[in-house]
Amino acid sequence: MTKKLNQEVMDLRQSGIRSVTMRCNELGGVNLGQGVCDLPMAEEIKTAAYQAIAGNKNIYSDYRGVASLREVLAEKIKNFNKVLVNPETEIAITHGATGAYVAALKTLFSPGDEIILFEPFYGYHLHVAKLFSINIKTVSIHIDDLSFDLNDLKKVISKNTKAIILCTPNNPTGKVFTKQELLEIGKLAEEHDFYIITDEMYEHFIYPGHEHISIASLNNFKARTLTISGFSKTYNMTGWRLGYVFGPAKLIEKIALVHDFFYVCPVTPLQYAGIQALQMPASYYEALQRSFLQKRDLMVQGLRYLGFTCTEPQGAYYMLVDGSNLSFDSGEDLSSYLLERAKVAAVPGSAFYLTAEQGAKKLRFCFALNSECLEKAINQLQQVLKAN
Ligand SMILES: Cc1ncc(COP(=O)(O)O)c(C=O)c1O
Repeated sequence: MTKKLNQEVMDLRQSGIRSVTMRCNELGGVNLGQGVCDLPMAEEIKTAAYQAIAGNKNIYSDYRGVASLREVLAEKIKNFNKVLVNPETEIAITHGATGAYVAALKTLFSPGDEIILFEPFYGYHLHVAKLFSINIKTVSIHIDDLSFDLNDLKKVISKNTKAIILCTPNNPTGKVFTKQELLEIGKLAEEHDFYIITDEMYEHFIYPGHEHISIASLNNFKARTLTISGFSKTYNMTGWRLGYVFGPAKLIEKIALVHDFFYVCPVTPLQYAGIQALQMPASYYEALQRSFLQKRDLMVQGLRYLGFTCTEPQGAYYMLVDGSNLSFDSGEDLSSYLLERAKVAAVPGSAFYLTAEQGAKKLRFCFALNSECLEKAINQLQQVLKAN
């Protein structure tokens, strides 16, 4: 064949995160690279899935998702996110949060439109946008204090700006956007008339002193905001592929339609089990926050002791650390050294920036593993880095 493949696809590369995972598995190492969250899942949710299958919930669901799940979700969104939504018209259940993001971008953007991403970014936010031929603009999050400069944001807004992507709590930095920051971003979105897409996948992973605020709950921002979240991380079910998006009815109707053409529907019996997930008691989320606070503190302490410079994550379960104090030429070198010698996987920082130089000397660690694994990883790193 001489005919060329799609150019955006030709330019795609396997993400660094997956290759690190593959090598880590070969070595039998501890994977602090990919955010797979290999923690146990609640028995009640598993039982609900068995029951849904036994109860023959086998056919395609409504293209917006199972109605009873949307109803329970609307309650959760009212109580937790402080946003009132109509489950009939303002929510779509999707093939993971990723399915929601893909359908949202396809719905909002035409080739040549511009998207604004905070950088460092979650790789899928960039790569899906590129696949849709969307032009990318970025605003830096400073990793030493997790702040950003509003003037940097003002500078990248143009008449072609179609939407800004927020990710709060943030992957990969652990930043939680403050109310003041969200008000400023929302005000700019109104002034320049662009949409806001907010990925709130880690909304339950918040550390003391910080608060998760959904931008859709502020002022009149709901009218221009698509809020994306999902079940993968909160309930340890990344392989179930269950997510959702809520926002203005006229957008959700189209997003659900696009999602239908790409995926038809999320897995029907697992949507029924999702109802059980949303009914977990408050103690479930309290225990999650307690255990992740312990993991975060263990990692911050351990990595600082090893010579990394790191800002304490405010939420989510990642840390983007700076290894400039350790004498390596790049994050790639450091990552492969640690993988081969200490058998601990971390992702080179370049995966989270447009240009590799910006991510050089940085590594992202994910701490969604049990504490024994985290301690083992820190010990193995210590043996290698402190022996130098
Ligand atoms: C910010 C963010 N959004 C979305 C996802 C993926 O969500 P899902 O598994 O629901 O597609 C991830 C997974 O790492 C993530 O970090």
